[in-house]
Amino acid sequence: KYEKIWLIFGGITLIVFLSVIGVSAFAMGHHPPSDMTTIDPEKVKETAPFDDPGLKKIGDNEYEAVMVAQAFMFGEPLEVPKGATVHFKVTSADVVHGFSIPGTNVNMMVTPGHINTITHTFDEAGEFLIICNEYCGVGHQAMSGRIEVN
Ligand code: CUA
Repeated sequence: KYEKIWLIFGGITLIVFLSVIGVSAFAMGHHPPSDMTTIDPEKVKETAPFDDPGLKKIGDNEYEAVMVAQAFMFGEPLEVPKGATVHFKVTSADVVHGFSIPGTNVNMMVTPGHINTITHTFDEAGEFLIICNEYCGVGHQAMSGRIEVN
């Protein structure tokens, strides 16, 4: 008698379990991307703002730096006026890269498919390097960019 109860209980558990898997698979497969900033890494160069990378003045002493990280570079060097606040908008055209500016608190991951943002105010003149600190392939050690503040 007890065996029968357990058999039914087990059967119900199995059905519930499979339904949950089925429903979540369905939900995931059909869910539209909720993140509006999601971009196709293969079409980065045709997708705004990455179709026009570089430094743009957006306010008084305020700039937006649009950059595409790609094995194994960060794009053209940036020239930033001293005292400027720079909002970095960075995406990757291939794999995950790092984005670190030694001597500042700028340090983030650059993930493909996303706009990765970080802000920094350059109060001191000088040359800054952008370093990739996520292993991204054979050229990883040499992957860097340059920011000139003057
Ligand atoms: Cu890019 Cu390491």
